Amino acid sequence: MENINKYLLNYKGYNFLSTAINDIDFIENMEDFEIQDDDVFIITYPKSGTIWTQQILSLIYFEEHRNSTENVKTIDRIPFFEYIRPKMDFVKRPSPRLFASHLPYYLVPKGLKSKKAKIIYVYRNPKDVLISYFHFTNLMVLCEAMDNMEQFMEKFLEGKVAGSLWFDHIRGWYEHRHDFNILFMMYEEMKKDLRSSVLKISSFLEKELSEEDVEAIVKQATFQNMKSDPKANYEEILNNELWKRTEGHFMRKGVVGDWKRHLTVEQNERFDKVFQRKMQDVPLKFIWDINEEENQFNSQITY
Ligand code: A3P
Repeated sequence: MENINKYLLNYKGYNFLSTAINDIDFIENMEDFEIQDDDVFIITYPKSGTIWTQQILSLIYFEEHRNSTENVKTIDRIPFFEYIRPKMDFVKRPSPRLFASHLPYYLVPKGLKSKKAKIIYVYRNPKDVLISYFHFTNLMVLCEAMDNMEQFMEKFLEGKVAGSLWFDHIRGWYEHRHDFNILFMMYEEMKKDLRSSVLKISSFLEKELSEEDVEAIVKQATFQNMKSDPKANYEEILNNELWKRTEGHFMRKGVVGDWKRHLTVEQNERFDKVFQRKMQDVPLKFIWDINEEENQFNSQITY
């Protein structure tokens, strides 16, 4: 364990958000955490659609959530594995146990390599990740505030942020995909076709859903509905002044291509160069923009 600064803790080459760790022993022992065959992990690099996927999984697994007959927050149904660990004992959680995590492939519990437990890895085009992360880092007291995009982009491209280098995270998971039972989902495809994405996820999870269920899930997992749903939008965390630094929301904009409004031509070219160099042999597809019409519409949303 090495403290990089007030906010980052490096463990085995990976930067954790130290301010969000409340159980160091767990971090040091999580590789040996006992995995059950029906465990499901949502794994993401920060700002890639974690809470969205938590919402989708919660709706898939819990009829009470779909029907709104129970008022439980998604974070309580699908807790973070390594961060702000709830007082609950993970070992005693009813199965299937659902978790969310930002861990790199080499730090997750070894038991995931039995290939029985499932992983849903959600990735997002890294320019939008960068923009989303920039807003987030200034929003949360837990993160290091940044003066401007230039400064944050520098940190992001050096991997001096929680989650370390985006390129390493995605490459690691992609190259080791055969060691795990893993489904890759793309944020932009979820955005383009939420219904197909829900079906893809539920089929991977071997959960049968009625037409009505699918409709209920898609409806409650849209950006607008999640934004106004206190169970899903994480606003409660931001109501706590100890956490919130400025005005803002977890559910900020939820669009594809917002980077175009934030990056200068030079910043974009620099990013492209790094991306091409680092990703040339990773054959994953990326979507950088969906269509102008949608973005024009969405850019009118205030945040
Ligand atoms: P923006 O900051 O670009 O709006 P994470 O949960 O991994 O921290 O990711 C947060 C990002 O996912 C935020 O992006 C947030 O708005 C977006 N998001 C959350 N729910 C969404 C949804 N239902 N549809 C689209 N984007 C969503």
